[in-house]
Amino acid sequence: MDLVVDPTTEKPEERAVQIEETVGNVHVDNPRMRAENVQVHYGDKHAIQNVTIDIGANEVVAFIGPSGCGKSTFLRCLNRMNDTIDICRVDGRIELDGKDIYDPSVDVVPLRARVGMVFQKPNPFPKSIYDNVAYGPRIHGLCDSKAELDEVVEQSLTKAGLWEEVKDRLDQPGTGLSGGQQQRLCIARAIAVSPEVILMDEPCSALDPIATAKIEELIHELSSQFTIVIVTHSMQQAARVSHRTAYFHLGRLVEVGPTKQIFTSPQHSLTQDYITGRFG
Ligand SMILES: Nc1ncnc2c1ncn2[C@@H]1O[C@H](COP(=O)(O)OP(=O)(O)OP(=O)(O)O)[C@@H](O)[C@H]1O
Ligand SMILES: [Mg+2]
Repeated sequence: MDLVVDPTTEKPEERAVQIEETVGNVHVDNPRMRAENVQVHYGDKHAIQNVTIDIGANEVVAFIGPSGCGKSTFLRCLNRMNDTIDICRVDGRIELDGKDIYDPSVDVVPLRARVGMVFQKPNPFPKSIYDNVAYGPRIHGLCDSKAELDEVVEQSLTKAGLWEEVKDRLDQPGTGLSGGQQQRLCIARAIAVSPEVILMDEPCSALDPIATAKIEELIHELSSQFTIVIVTHSMQQAARVSHRTAYFHLGRLVEVGPTKQIFTSPQHSLTQDYITGRFG
């Protein structure tokens, strides 16, 4: 049995919290991704411990939990973004459509097109709106002609809910858009290469409520076509956009379940404490 020290509890005698194995069903019938016994170390620090979870096709899964619990670390495992951090080591197995994404033969560039990512802070390239979206299709050689590329750019911007706002200024810099528009541009850039999965790490944390509402609506629309994993600090947001919610605590996946159930009748006391605002 593992005893985990909970630094957020005031009384030392209550600090030892039991996390044996994840509560709830970590498997789904139609998995797009499967993570099994994933461990992540940064040097000696064991940041993710033994996480097993499936991500179903066309599902929106929300990762929630206190700051530092490992949400971003685990999210970055799903498209090997942690490879870019020298001291980071990932063990265990992660599959996309049944294939091990950590197999040495896997090229991370096409992998990161299949499993795209949208970051906390909108990060458009210092290029035109058009070129931001056209970038991926160009480097992956997805379009044979300018007309085809134009079509992909228009469709991606339309799906990202941005086309009407930018169609007359495609040659202007992406960085000149508002924060919310920039984030939708980053989503358009991610979907331009037809990913299977889109990872979003707190995609609304730099946005105002109106821009946030637009992105949430967009997540809802995109979920018919893509699988989405979203990290959020907003429980309201998790409740609004996701089908399943996974609660992380000190590097462990404590509980996973249908979002409504997690927020109305969580099984684990740690989940209960978090969603009722006792810590986090
Ligand atoms: N590049 C890194 N090098 C060393 N340690 C790291 C690195 N990134 C994260 N960590 C550590 O791993 C643990 C998990 O961090 P992570 O950023 O995944 O948490 P998080 O749940 O996303 O937190 P937040 O909600 O604040 O974004 C933390 O203890 C953090 O300090
Ligand atoms: Mg984070």
